[in-house]
Amino acid sequence: MNRVTYYTACSLDGFLATEDDSLDWLFRQRIDEDGPMNHGAFMAGVGALVMGATTYGWVVDHGERTGEPWAYTVPTWVVTHRQFPPTENDVRFVSGSVDSWWSDVTASAGDREIWVVGGGDLAGQIADAGQLDRMLVQYAPVTLGAGRPLLPRLQDFALVDVVRNQDFVCAEYSVVR
Ligand SMILES: NC(=O)c1ccc[n+]([C@@H]2O[C@H](COP(=O)([O-])OP(=O)(O)OC[C@H]3O[C@@H](n4cnc5c(N)ncnc54)[C@H](OP(=O)(O)O)[C@@H]3O)[C@@H](O)[C@H]2O)c1
Repeated sequence: MNRVTYYTACSLDGFLATEDDSLDWLFRQRIDEDGPMNHGAFMAGVGALVMGATTYGWVVDHGERTGEPWAYTVPTWVVTHRQFPPTENDVRFVSGSVDSWWSDVTASAGDREIWVVGGGDLAGQIADAGQLDRMLVQYAPVTLGAGRPLLPRLQDFALVDVVRNQDFVCAEYSVVR
């Protein structure tokens, strides 16, 4: 069974991004890329990514703006009703209930971890379907007041671990089913 992890950074008041999808508040924070809960170490165990349409659009726009190439060599599943332009990257578009596409995601990940990138409602849909195992959150020392929510659901978690990485409080939670 693949472990399924929602791994994300968020503000102290539980937002992934501002209402206009800005992450400027996040990128100005300090983080040790080799420190606790770092992206590279996490990514090394990942076999597939799952993200919603807004997040995918942001990643593509960001890549076009900065000239950064697509960062992922494993399949990326984008959950959407939209028609995105064709891409040479390994991006696979699905829509509808989690149950209708989840087995394809797990098959593509082999025996490796599945990274639920976000947004929050999509992570909630995956939790509702009983597929989410844990959440890794890097809390930045900033409040946004409003924005895209971390997980707009009532969902119990158990706190597994807390570490500091420079400006961030990094917390690991397991899903309580
Ligand atoms: N802080 C971080 O580390 C972090 C991490 C992840 C994301 N983010 C940011 O947070 C924001 C998240 O945006 P968001 O809250 O709008 O979430 P999202 O999951 O990125 O996008 C939501 C959209 O995905 C589509 N969707 C979701 N579930 C679906 C389903 N079952 N079937 C078909 N389509 C489905 C819908 O769009 P359509 O119906 O239009 O297709 C929905 O409006 C973005 O700005 C992203 O860049 C930040």
